[in-house]
Amino acid sequence: MATRWGKRVLVTGGSGFLGSHLCDRLISEGCEVLCVDNFYTGDKSNIAQLLDEHRFELMRHDVTFPLYVEVDEIYNLACPASPIHYQFDPVQTTKTSVHGAINLLGLAKRTKAKILQASTSEVYGDPLEHPQEEGYWGHVNPIGPRSCYDEGKRCAETLFFDYH
Ligand SMILES: NC(=O)c1ccc[n+]([C@@H]2O[C@H](COP(=O)([O-])OP(=O)(O)OC[C@H]3O[C@@H](n4cnc5c(N)ncnc54)[C@H](O)[C@@H]3O)[C@@H](O)[C@H]2O)c1
Repeated sequence: MATRWGKRVLVTGGSGFLGSHLCDRLISEGCEVLCVDNFYTGDKSNIAQLLDEHRFELMRHDVTFPLYVEVDEIYNLACPASPIHYQFDPVQTTKTSVHGAINLLGLAKRTKAKILQASTSEVYGDPLEHPQEEGYWGHVNPIGPRSCYDEGKRCAETLFFDYH
């Protein structure tokens, strides 16, 4: 715990379901947390308990646009996760995964920050193997109603490995 004290951590999608709990955890570990969210599916009420915390900062920002901040670690959680939300504007969903990954990987490269991508088992599409092992490439459809989410996350994984 002591090693994380004072670390500047960026959480994209930080006002969402998972992101808000991650922000809570990071603050409890002594980190300085920058929560970035465009509030598409997230809500300020999820992080209301953190708004008075001096180590917590909230920024309304869409990750499809570049972000210029100084951080030590990045958790990229920004992306609508439920079908009803990600299918509402499928182009924006793909942009969030792909442009978001490019922008945040660029930020990680410049700041030498460690970065984590929240991917999904949806990258396996409609899998023919259960459970899916890391070596399984999936059974995916590039043009279906779920493709904006699945293919966006797959492309983000490609970007993360190419940067790596
Ligand atoms: N919840 C799950 O079971 C699950 C499973 C696998 C993967 N994931 C992934 O984990 C991450 C978080 O999921 P969640 O369940 O908390 O979803 P969520 O919808 O509650 O949170 C996503 C957050 O991202 C924000 N967001 C969306 N587009 C954005 C953009 N362009 N710029 C900035 N912020 C944006 C939303 O406003 C929201 O606060 C997602 O990337 C999701 O794909 C979730």
